[in-house]
Amino acid sequence: MDQTTIKEMVAASAVDKLVRSGMKLGLGTGSTAIPAVRRVGALLASGELCDILAVPTSFQTTIECEKLGIPIFSLNSREIDGSLDLTIDGADEVDPDNRCIKGGGGALLLEKIIAYASAQYAIVVDESKIVKNLGLKFPVPVEVIPEARIPVTLALEKLGAEVKLREAVRKAGPVITDHGNFILDILFGTAPDPSALEAEINRIPGVVENGFFTGPAGRVLRPAIFIGHGNGNVERRD
Ligand code: A5P
Repeated sequence: MDQTTIKEMVAASAVDKLVRSGMKLGLGTGSTAIPAVRRVGALLASGELCDILAVPTSFQTTIECEKLGIPIFSLNSREIDGSLDLTIDGADEVDPDNRCIKGGGGALLLEKIIAYASAQYAIVVDESKIVKNLGLKFPVPVEVIPEARIPVTLALEKLGAEVKLREAVRKAGPVITDHGNFILDILFGTAPDPSALEAEINRIPGVVENGFFTGPAGRVLRPAIFIGHGNGNVERRD
């Protein structure tokens, strides 16, 4: 099975198991989350689902919902009132404790806000995303306000990270996020402590958010992980 087919399979499986009519639904970003959006669109079109109120995590997802006719709202809309029943999103890496790195597509800020506003949170990945330690292979994105680029870089280097400003493709200069910020991609030489670092990085002035998703203290926001395997199986890890 090729990777695209695995992504479609795992996305459809999570939607079919978790999404119900009438839900307030957060919709993720990236090449695994978008097939989930398409599955929701197809089920709405066929009448198998109805009354879905969707909150997209990025411009990419907003545009996909618009194309599919999925009704979209913001977390601040009266219909949503700041809380969601379920969010389905992708991830770049997942560790054995279901902690993740997200933000490969640059949408980490709204993705995290929406994750925290969700009663149920599911991550869809193919098996290549499963790792023993986060942050050694796939860089952790750190969204920073442009004016803070150098001070934040120095502070991240002090934490032991190798830091790279994310460059845009087909636009000169850096990536500008959906919220007008830059992204610093950071990698570690030795296995970092993701839970401690998530909090520590966010304490640096100028950092808007980082891509470690380890769950807020006092409340376990560890997602249900749906893992698509090349043999056609979908494994669920809670
Ligand atoms: C978007 O910013 C990300 O958090 C994505 O969910 C993540 O990068 C996974 O994307 P893919 O499914 O495209 O690998």
